[in-house]
Amino acid sequence: MTVVDDIKARLDITDVVSGYIELKQAGSNFKAPCPFHDEKTPSFIVSPGRQTWHCFGACSTGGDVISFVMKRESIDFGEALRVLADRAGVSIGTPNIKTKSTSTYEINESAAKFFSSVLYSENGQIARDYLKSRGIDQSTAQTFDLGMSPPQQISLNLFQHLKLEGFSNEQILESKLVNKYEDGNTNDFFRNRIMFPIKNRRGKIAGFGARSIDNSEPKYINTPKTDVFDKSGILYGLDISHQSIIAERQAVVVEGYMDVIAAHQHNNNNVIASMGTAVTDVQISQLKSLCDTLILALDSDAAGQEATLRKLEEILIDSASQNMMGFNRRIGPIIKRNSIEIKICRLPEGSDPDDLIRNDLPAWQKLIDESVKAQEFMIDALPIRFDLGSGSGKTAALEWISGLIYASNPFDQQNYKEKIAAKLDIASSKLDPILRELGRKSKRSKSTSPRKSIRNEPITVSNIPNSEVSLDEYTLAIMLNSPELKDIPDNFSPECFIRSEDREIFTQWLETGKLDVLKSTIDDSLQPRLEQILDIKLKPIDLRQAFNSLEQCFSRIEERHLRKLQEGLLSTESSLASSKDLEEAIVKMNNRIKEIHSQRG
Ligand code: UTP
Ligand code: MN
Repeated sequence: MTVVDDIKARLDITDVVSGYIELKQAGSNFKAPCPFHDEKTPSFIVSPGRQTWHCFGACSTGGDVISFVMKRESIDFGEALRVLADRAGVSIGTPNIKTKSTSTYEINESAAKFFSSVLYSENGQIARDYLKSRGIDQSTAQTFDLGMSPPQQISLNLFQHLKLEGFSNEQILESKLVNKYEDGNTNDFFRNRIMFPIKNRRGKIAGFGARSIDNSEPKYINTPKTDVFDKSGILYGLDISHQSIIAERQAVVVEGYMDVIAAHQHNNNNVIASMGTAVTDVQISQLKSLCDTLILALDSDAAGQEATLRKLEEILIDSASQNMMGFNRRIGPIIKRNSIEIKICRLPEGSDPDDLIRNDLPAWQKLIDESVKAQEFMIDALPIRFDLGSGSGKTAALEWISGLIYASNPFDQQNYKEKIAAKLDIASSKLDPILRELGRKSKRSKSTSPRKSIRNEPITVSNIPNSEVSLDEYTLAIMLNSPELKDIPDNFSPECFIRSEDREIFTQWLETGKLDVLKSTIDDSLQPRLEQILDIKLKPIDLRQAFNSLEQCFSRIEERHLRKLQEGLLSTESSLASSKDLEEAIVKMNNRIKEIHSQRG
């Protein structure tokens, strides 16, 4: 039994939850108004039999005792476990495992302290003046641990500092904070710049961004890729924003460090940055588990818009057109696939969030409130991307946008169809026949991209276990053994896993993607579970087989998750929510289960 199991076994979820909210008996379960969203009719259920909780209302989420405390207290897995360990009278030791990557975090930590000491020294005057000129006050600078890398001529450089702190040359070079040249000379990577420590969600410094003070180019440089740093897998500011993001159920993604800092200084605490690129899948998946709505407030220049569109196309259209391949007329249109709503905040040309927030806060707030659904943004972009004056342009536009229509729920569909028809200058009644014709054509000329041909391979691996928890273990084992496979289905949420431990391992794996990094950064209490998973002996399989198995596993896990939800809904007294909501929820789940089956073939 792992320490996590031990803690869970000693606690009763009903007791723990009752410590936070008042529960009322409802059959063999307990109910209450959901503590995570505003509601009058209770849709929050605790099941002592299963030791689980669930909100069947707006959140439609659930889990075990650990995930309840995590969510309720806005703390991470390790912290929640410590709270519960205390309560259960179990002591959790903190063994100290040192690996290459822990040392990179330590080096970054030490470097950040050094950069901060430079900023507040005499040599830092110019950087302090600069920050002041950008409207950043000292307490904000401290919240973000801003610093300054010393100019060339200063007496002590970072390399010397790190050596004095006892790090080896090898460790220091590993962190990429110091360059070593062919002639054997070394030099600090960052010189005479404002330093922005970039922290992961748990607040560990993974790397740095650095802005020039004297207008020298490039304006920004960042830590190159290391064991622990990959810019595309981190959101700047998530460490201090995640509580607000959970509370507000909404995150605002901006481009730059300065934008995040200005936002927080003005109490916009759910703002994070993608650091100059279009948001990545990994970044989105990190946010999926925290909130329902993601607002992209990105630069309005043409390049930025184009990048945003390409990304949205990938998220909203590609996944939908893959569905269209298995589009089943009896099931009808497929329900909205993305569990997170993406909205676009249109910034006036030439202004960035930092300007707006500092100069006209109400205008910024208004722009955020007026952000439009990504789907509408894409429809609005049709005339920019296609020549809508010609028949072939209209066809191309429709082909492009049709996936998006099918991926939406019926209500939005109608709305989008009308908007599209208006853009194409045709009667909205004409749209359906045209779309059907296009659908038939695309079915005949099924694409043969490599990805899809993998999908059509017969399933060759048949040793997927049936028992519930071992299915989760097996899935994680395949993932951890095939780091190339990062393709997580859109509908799949970490919450489909039964145990909080597995959810946590899954989420952190998506963030890090490297086994040694995962091992060294994951909470100590999760180590035994991670080892259990890594101990699972998999039959030697090639990448294609792994892809197939994994796909099957995800769909089984999701189906199991949905069935459990249905069961829970049905077994709960009908006083729960309104019977119409209940019915709707069940129908929706049924549709999705059918869809999963039709995809499995
Ligand atoms: P911006 O050019 O919008 O910079 O790039 P900014 O954050 O608004 O900074 P100021 O206001 O000019 O000082 C947005 C983000 O893109 C990344 C950085 O993360 C930056 O914050 N970037 C930009 C780079 O990584 N390298 C660059 O050369 C430029
Ligand atoms: Mn800026």
